[in-house]
Amino acid sequence: MSHSPITTLDKNGDEITTVGFDRFGFDSRVPLDVLRSLYLRPHYVIHANEINDVKELDSEAAELQHAKFLQHHAAYQSKSIYHPDTQSISYTTLSRFPPVKLLPPGIRKRILVTGGAGFVGSHLVDRLMLLGHEVTVLDNFFTGSKTTVSHWVGHPNFELVRHDVVEPFMIECDQIYHLACPASPPHYQFNAVKTIKTSFMGTLNMLGLAKRTKARFLISSTSEVYGDPEVHPQTEEYWGHVNPIGPRACYDEGKRVAETLTYGFQRQDGVDVRVARIFNTYGPRMNPYDGRVVSNFIVQALKGEDMTVYGDGRQTRSFQYVHDLIDGLIALMNSNETRPVNIGNSDEFTIGEFAELVREIVEKVQDQDGDVRTRRVQIVYQPMPTDDPQKRRPDTTRAKESLGWQPRWTVRMGLEEMVRYYKAKMAEGSL
Ligand SMILES: NC(=O)c1ccc[n+]([C@@H]2O[C@H](COP(=O)([O-])OP(=O)(O)OC[C@H]3O[C@@H](n4cnc5c(N)ncnc54)[C@H](O)[C@@H]3O)[C@@H](O)[C@H]2O)c1
Repeated sequence: MSHSPITTLDKNGDEITTVGFDRFGFDSRVPLDVLRSLYLRPHYVIHANEINDVKELDSEAAELQHAKFLQHHAAYQSKSIYHPDTQSISYTTLSRFPPVKLLPPGIRKRILVTGGAGFVGSHLVDRLMLLGHEVTVLDNFFTGSKTTVSHWVGHPNFELVRHDVVEPFMIECDQIYHLACPASPPHYQFNAVKTIKTSFMGTLNMLGLAKRTKARFLISSTSEVYGDPEVHPQTEEYWGHVNPIGPRACYDEGKRVAETLTYGFQRQDGVDVRVARIFNTYGPRMNPYDGRVVSNFIVQALKGEDMTVYGDGRQTRSFQYVHDLIDGLIALMNSNETRPVNIGNSDEFTIGEFAELVREIVEKVQDQDGDVRTRRVQIVYQPMPTDDPQKRRPDTTRAKESLGWQPRWTVRMGLEEMVRYYKAKMAEGSL
């Protein structure tokens, strides 16, 4: 298997080589290939069948094999070696960490990320670590996993704490990104009461901590606060249209009360707060089995199964790539904008178009890797489930005006990375 370096183009056709930007006195730029090495590489890397001599596993050649996705960077991940014959996987311990920026103490921040082992959280942690900050992850691993941040465990700037935010937690810190909360419907509906507790008590505890330590506090709210909206696209001024007793209420109302608490602490106690209303996001490390359309399509196509479209495929969706979201969260945290800010991508695709695109990209990646397809995956249409959510589309004027933020990733480029990620997971045997 040989892999050529991936070229990633933005919406204007310019190559993306870094993510982040230097704004509001906070330089958040990180080379894309270093970042990518943290989620794309390890599994593509060593496959027991590809290695003749076991000793080779420790050799320089294996290191290079391990790093084949990167053009110049050595391997910064523990190795996972899959043995298909015995259906087992062996992990090695980490030999070294990617280089992180060396920041003077006055600039280096102590940053707490709750939910940092989840999909969005782990990408945020990668960025903040590479930027040279001290990062503490607080997570109860309900939907997150230690494996998403295991490449940082042991690093002197990193701490991983298993803790439920429903219980108080004390730590000295300068910034808090409060992300802890299950985000997909099957997960947040699994225990609705716990979801509300997490939203309310978890946010209360973290705001109490921000008050005590004078840390700046950012909460990851959601487009779900707009409910089933009566206006399109949604601006931050819109108050929403939420059913308080429906099956989604534990999440929607949970986030709404979390926002209320946040502004309560701002008004009463002067806590320095930021509120990000996040719209649908996709990317590597997303749980492949939580019923979201992007991951469903990719996994079906990679497994050679037919792709299921519910309805006639003409309903539209918009998705943002996770790197755009992280750019937006970091910009918001470091800006002076204290009002809620929508962070999302407003480019709409029909689900039918989307399925076609996923199929095309999966085929492209398979061809590049020299995989043989026995047949072309078909796109099949099935009746729409009755509770299919209504469409939402962000108005991101505020993010553009006050943060200078707008999405850079095209859906094609984001999907291609995600396909490679899931493909690697399959090669590893974990999908
Ligand atoms: N992914 C999206 O499209 C999206 C959209 C809107 C908002 N958001 C918000 O972004 C945040 C992160 O979402 P995600 O997609 O990464 O979800 P995720 O489920 O992957 O991550 C959530 C993390 O929080 C942890 N967690 C849950 N309950 C906890 C508790 N009580 N104590 C400690 N940790 C707890 C989980 O273990 C997990 O690691 C959430 O607050 C979510 O509401 C996400």
